[in-house]
Amino acid sequence: MLIIFASRTGNVRRFVNKAVELSVLHLRTCELPDLIPFQQAHLVTYTDPMGAVPPMVENFLTRHHRKILSVSGSGNRNWGRDFAAAVDRIHQQYGIPINLKFELSGTPSEIQAFVDYINNEPETMETRVRILKFRTDSCVTCAAVTDALDRHNIPYRDVNPFDHPDLAAQYRVRSVPTVVVFEGDREVLRMVGYKPEVIEQIKKLFQ
Ligand SMILES: Cc1cc2nc3c(=O)[nH]c(=O)nc-3n(C[C@H](O)[C@H](O)[C@H](O)COP(=O)(O)O)c2cc1C
Repeated sequence: MLIIFASRTGNVRRFVNKAVELSVLHLRTCELPDLIPFQQAHLVTYTDPMGAVPPMVENFLTRHHRKILSVSGSGNRNWGRDFAAAVDRIHQQYGIPINLKFELSGTPSEIQAFVDYINNEPETMETRVRILKFRTDSCVTCAAVTDALDRHNIPYRDVNPFDHPDLAAQYRVRSVPTVVVFEGDREVLRMVGYKPEVIEQIKKLFQ
């Protein structure tokens, strides 16, 4: 799992580094404004004056908010109502779940809570954009769809409708390949057969 973070004076950086030491999972980190290609990540930010979201975090979210699983933020309680308010603003604007608001570089128990949230990430949190790819082994077009998704590093869950007739019925799948794309619980795209233009649309959701 990847943690993307922004830090101006080092508090968030210290928090993230301690979280990496504590986690049983292999956590990778990436500090803004540098960015590596990624499919999903947790975001940690500091808070700017009057509870503002730092501009580099704003820029990042404009392009990548769909791939962010949770937001956490550092602030200072001296700012009263604006304490770590960047987190609330990000949550309100993009609907990203809040993991943690903490002061400065966090206490050991806060860091543990942050790590527990990530380690225990249930299925509902696996990603905000989810893809079900219905396919069978003998289907040549299905293999082409798989190749296209893999080539673009697009994550999906493979479903054979004969093994999972319940899922096929639930998502009204009548032929393979069918790719169904969800944002949260909402279906946002569907591709029946192989349509390169729809693959391009799906790709954009993960950029
Ligand atoms: C000019 C300035 C304005 C700040 N405004 C807020 C604020 O509105 N709310 C808040 O909770 N923290 C505020 N802070 C505190 C920082 O968000 C906090 O110190 C944070 O730990 C900084 O993280 P960093 O060291 O990783 O940059 C402000 C800090 C500075 C220097």
